[in-house]
Amino acid sequence: MTDTKEVTPTPPGSTPSPVMVPIRSLGPGQRDRINQHLLALDENDRYLRFGYMANDEQITRYTDGLNFERDNIFGIYNRKLRLIAMAHLAFSASPECHSCAEFGVSVLKHARGRGYGARLFERAVMHARNEGVELMFIHALSENKVMLKIAQNAGATVVRDGSESQAHLRLPPATLDSRVSEIVETQFAELDYKLKVQVKQFWDFLAGLQKIRSGAHDAG
Ligand SMILES: CC(C)(COP(=O)(O)OP(=O)(O)OC[C@H]1O[C@@H](n2cnc3c(N)ncnc32)[C@H](O)[C@@H]1OP(=O)(O)O)[C@@H](O)C(=O)NCCC(=O)NCCS
Repeated sequence: MTDTKEVTPTPPGSTPSPVMVPIRSLGPGQRDRINQHLLALDENDRYLRFGYMANDEQITRYTDGLNFERDNIFGIYNRKLRLIAMAHLAFSASPECHSCAEFGVSVLKHARGRGYGARLFERAVMHARNEGVELMFIHALSENKVMLKIAQNAGATVVRDGSESQAHLRLPPATLDSRVSEIVETQFAELDYKLKVQVKQFWDFLAGLQKIRSGAHDAG
């Protein structure tokens, strides 16, 4: 006899990551870091991220135009406080789709393949869900297998239209669990950021001391 157990699919935004990555919600004070991150993308990555080969000026215009009141920008920092991965969750301003949001993401080349893209997607889904978003969209070029994989892994439906693809993910309503998870993740990321700031300040201080010492040595 075969055992036919029914498996209930886990709703998007409620799957805990196997590894907790500190993902911080960024404010206007981080605009410069966001810009530096995007400017570090090469031509091909800019094409994949924006759908066209954005030049430095267009990227800076995009960064200057970010609306931190309406949208959410999430980021992952390394120990030197460089933004190595970031995502933009843009909430729809259109009355036809007021509970929709769009997701865009980039990870610096050296930090790829560590799951950051997927974690940022999960984080954005969790937030969008808690904000009452019902549909999340991802525009990607059809050649962008990695982005489409992230979306499909999360249960999104992908519709291919020639060189471009559109993925959409229907989100379930927020629950107590999704709200508490977001609070915990936010606090974890803030704590991680504060620690990184302190460690960086300490290393900068030591480097300064070292400079003074070698200056004194050279003069002696
Ligand atoms: C798309 C992008 C954000 C992915 O970031 P990442 O951190 O490397 O992605 P992850 O490590 O989370 O990998 C995501 C999935 O893709 C898979 N993957 C990685 N490289 C792959 C490849 N070359 N081909 C197919 N799948 C691949 C991973 O195995 C993972 O799937 P899994 O969880 O089932 O194992 C990154 O490549 C990037 O910044 N690209 C340029 C900008 C861009 O394309 N943005 C998306 C458009 S909005």
